[in-house]
Amino acid sequence: MADAHSPSLPPILLVGCGKMGGAMLEGWLAEGLAPSVIVDRHRDTLPAPHRLVRDVADLPADFRPGLIVLAMKPQKVAAAIAAIAPFAAHAPVLSVLAGRTVGGLTDALRAHMPAGAHPVVIRSMPNTPAAVGEGMTVSYAPPHATAAQRALCDRVLSAIGRTAWVEHEPEIDVVTAISGSGPAYVFLLAELLEQAGVEGGLPPALARQIARQTVSGAGVLMQRSGIDAEQLRRNVTSPGGTTQQALSVLMAPDAWPATLRAAVRAASRRARELAS
Ligand SMILES: NC(=O)c1ccc[n+]([C@@H]2O[C@H](COP(=O)([O-])OP(=O)(O)OC[C@H]3O[C@@H](n4cnc5c(N)ncnc54)[C@H](OP(=O)(O)O)[C@@H]3O)[C@@H](O)[C@H]2O)c1
Repeated sequence: MADAHSPSLPPILLVGCGKMGGAMLEGWLAEGLAPSVIVDRHRDTLPAPHRLVRDVADLPADFRPGLIVLAMKPQKVAAAIAAIAPFAAHAPVLSVLAGRTVGGLTDALRAHMPAGAHPVVIRSMPNTPAAVGEGMTVSYAPPHATAAQRALCDRVLSAIGRTAWVEHEPEIDVVTAISGSGPAYVFLLAELLEQAGVEGGLPPALARQIARQTVSGAGVLMQRSGIDAEQLRRNVTSPGGTTQQALSVLMAPDAWPATLRAAVRAASRRARELAS
């Protein structure tokens, strides 16, 4: 963990500091990334040199952030866009809003900017493991974004986990269905394992402990070993053993393979609907 703010990074303006914005802020604070100005109505304090304001309209007109991060709910952005637009004339906007396209946000900003303005909006899809520095964020930058603007976003997002980029914006809908929503699928797995343990006669506290530790331990093993998930699965599966019996149920074509594919398709479809 760095204890000094990165001198090479300009101030970050974070608008909206709930679950996702808060996770990003924690990562930036932990890394000592850059002085930030947080627009938030719920937080009371912020360690110096970071600053807290209640509303974008409270920012001084001559404030010059190097990056503006939008992290409010998608339906709340319209109310804030007019106040954000003057700052977007000088800095790229990094949006983590699900279902809000680069074109839609760019047009909304331009409606409040002088004619001919070309705001740069970069769209990212993070996920909540960002809160512990284990996020996965996939981003899309439009062609007029500069390499320096992409690099700045990548640096800021790297503070909350791994990063990747797509070259075609519609791919973000599939990303949303996998890494954006995916933590919920994994938490559901933990819930269902716990329930199955209780139904099998285990004390609830033990069922909970073994379900949670199995999910998190398997995740850590996969990450630290770098071994393919398929091989790790095979390593647990002795021929004729208990795991093989369970997998013959889970891997039946109409079981997990079909169900997960259908779930991801449903989430991707919803992401497309939200974007249209
Ligand atoms: N949570 C996830 O797993 C996840 C994953 C990927 C992407 N995202 C995206 O992240 C964004 C935020 O989601 P979230 O789950 O963090 O929502 P959240 O917990 O509701 O946080 C949003 C925060 O933004 C604040 N806010 C709204 N308008 C504001 C404004 N004009 N100025 C300052 N603050 C404002 C809200 O305050 P009020 O409550 O007072 O309005 C709230 O504190 C969404 O667009 C979502 O699509 C979330």
